[in-house]
Amino acid sequence: SVPPEAFRDVKIAIIGGTGLYQLDNVKHIAEFEPLTPWGYPSSPIHIVETAGGHKVAFLARHGRGHAYTPTSVPAQANIAALKHLGVEAILAFSAVGSLRQEIKPRDFVIPDQIIDRTKGIRPSTFFETGLVAHAMFADPFDHTGIGQIVWNKARDVMVGEGVQMHLGGTVICMEGPAFSTRAESNMYRSWGGSVINMSAIPEAKLAREAEIAYQMVCMSTDYDCWHEDEEAVTVEMVVGNLKANGGNARRVVEAVLPELEKAVWGRESAYTIGKGLKGSMKFAC
Ligand code: ADE
Repeated sequence: SVPPEAFRDVKIAIIGGTGLYQLDNVKHIAEFEPLTPWGYPSSPIHIVETAGGHKVAFLARHGRGHAYTPTSVPAQANIAALKHLGVEAILAFSAVGSLRQEIKPRDFVIPDQIIDRTKGIRPSTFFETGLVAHAMFADPFDHTGIGQIVWNKARDVMVGEGVQMHLGGTVICMEGPAFSTRAESNMYRSWGGSVINMSAIPEAKLAREAEIAYQMVCMSTDYDCWHEDEEAVTVEMVVGNLKANGGNARRVVEAVLPELEKAVWGRESAYTIGKGLKGSMKFAC
C-alpha cells in the first residue's frame, strides 16, 4: 500500500493528450486510481517528484493504450480526482489540426479562447442536479498565468527543436470522432479558429468549476482538410507527428515546471496563477 504522504502537497497536474503518456526525468513516487462520484479517471494518476523536489500528478487523458475516444473520456472523474489531491494548476496537452498557414504541423500553440462545437452529449458540469451554477468562462484558459510561463520559458526550447510556438489563438473543439468536412474546416477558419481538436471541452469547463487554473498547450499534427496544397488529415498523418510532439511536450514540461512551481507555491515569481479563481464559484450559484 502507498503511504498517504505520497498524495500530499500535489498542487500541479499535467494532463497528457495523444502522444504524451508519461513524463521524463522525474522520480516515480506512487500511482493510484481513485473512485470518484463520477467513476474512475481515464488512467491511474502517477505522482512524480520533479527536479525541484515538488510532487506533480500526471494523468493520460485517453487512458493506457488510448482506450477512450474524445467523447467518452471521463472528464468529470479526471478533474474531480485531481481536485481531491489538492491540485491548483493544470497544464494540459492536446494534439490539434491547424487552421492557419503559419501554424505548421509540429508547431505548438498556447490558445486563449475556445469555440465549443461538441454536441452537448458530453457531461460538462459538476452541477447536474440540485444546485445550479453558472461559472464565468469568458477567458477559458489561464493564459495570463500558466500560459505566460509556457511562452516565456519554453519557446526557446522549441525553437531549438526547429519548431515554433505561437502565443494566443482560438481552439475549435469538435465532437468527432470523424474529422471535419472541407466546408466545416473553411467555416471554422472564417470564424477565426486557429486550431481544432476534440478535447478542450469539457475539461476546461470542469477545471473552471473546480477553481483550478487550466492552460491547454496544443500540438499541431496536420492542416485539417482546408489546405489546398496539403493532403487532407488522416490518422497516419496525425500519428506520424505525434512522436515528435510527445518529445517536445516533455521538453516544454521540463522548461516550465521550475517557474510554475515557484508561482504555485507562493515563492517569488513574476507570474500569478489562477487570477480571481479562488472562491469564484461562490458567486456562480
Ligand atoms: N486532432 C488532431 N488533428 C485534428 C483535426 N484535424 N481535427 C480534429 N482533431 C484533431
